[in-house]
Amino acid sequence: MVTVALAGAASGFGLTMLRTFVHLNSTATNPHKLVLLSRSEKPELAALGVDVRPVDYANHSQLVEALKDVHTLLSVIGGSLEAMRDAQIALIDAAKEVGIKRFAPSEYACISNDNIDLYRPKAEVWEATKKAASETRMEITSFQCGIFMSAFATGTTKPITEVGQREGAKTGEEEALAGLRPWNFVVNMRGGTADLPADGMTPIVFTEIRDIATFAYHALSLDAWPEVMGMRGDVKSYREMLSIIERVQGRKFLVKENSVDEMKAQAAGNPSMSFYNQVRCALTEGWGVVPDTLNKAFPDLHPMTCEEFVEKWWSGVEIGEASWSEDQTFM
Ligand SMILES: NC(=O)c1ccc[n+]([C@@H]2O[C@H](COP(=O)([O-])OP(=O)(O)OC[C@H]3O[C@@H](n4cnc5c(N)ncnc54)[C@H](OP(=O)(O)O)[C@@H]3O)[C@@H](O)[C@H]2O)c1
Repeated sequence: MVTVALAGAASGFGLTMLRTFVHLNSTATNPHKLVLLSRSEKPELAALGVDVRPVDYANHSQLVEALKDVHTLLSVIGGSLEAMRDAQIALIDAAKEVGIKRFAPSEYACISNDNIDLYRPKAEVWEATKKAASETRMEITSFQCGIFMSAFATGTTKPITEVGQREGAKTGEEEALAGLRPWNFVVNMRGGTADLPADGMTPIVFTEIRDIATFAYHALSLDAWPEVMGMRGDVKSYREMLSIIERVQGRKFLVKENSVDEMKAQAAGNPSMSFYNQVRCALTEGWGVVPDTLNKAFPDLHPMTCEEFVEKWWSGVEIGEASWSEDQTFM
């Protein structure tokens, strides 16, 4: 059992992680003590037994005080680029002073942060994390999970299940998205379209968000932390995903292939499209194939496959003819 603090776990992906930790704790023989660092009081999370510690990331001594009994610090901070950088650098400074044993910054993406402008703060924070580890005895890790599988639930009309009810979701889509904002990334599940990176044949890791949380929870108990801990829900190319989706939805998708040159031109010509296209270019180079460190460490965990996910959230959903719509992208 360790005292683990989650910074920024009051919304989005992090909130599902925190709720999953609470759920796993409820059946664990040695539950972890859960602390939430948030910029505001979160009475609804305190009611779940989480020790909520309001913090101001600009207040170093307050952060140090909030971390004083913490063994493992997981950051799931999101928000603006400045927030991701400044709040996490402040966390690292406080963690060093306190002598935190383990720290994992808000990575949860693919094998590197290079060539993706929105991930520049992740790269800076990872450099600061490695520097802190070299100056102290802190163990660090970069959790890598590929693309959130949950994106493939965007637009579903399936009903909520007991998992969503337990977590306070209002719809099946909200349960399936698990904190991810609706995201027609490459594939538009309702529209029936796919805007592929190149020929769509490159393998990519897709992991469901509660599975990411479950792997991270188990990683808390490892004897030592390697510098990278990858996890794989499933490995599929977009072409393989399409054949699953077409079978389950019972219709053909409209498909557009985009060459790397075309995606680079789209990224350069329109700043709002640069993240989408930089990620798609990286995917064609194998950026999405993260290691299977945690699958190997915990062979008894059986994360959801893409096929199971698509079946769960799309089988029986009535849906019209495929047609291109405007909403194809990240933003
Ligand atoms: N692999 C994928 O497909 C994928 C997809 C989406 C996201 N992600 C990753 O998941 C992580 C979390 O992203 P998210 O979208 O879930 O995050 P988010 O909901 O936008 O933000 C999470 C938390 O960050 C904290 N925060 C926001 N602005 C802040 C600020 N100015 N200073 C300090 N804290 C601030 C907030 O906590 P409080 O208000 O409680 O302080 C917020 O609840 C990121 O690393 C992101 O890159 C990965």
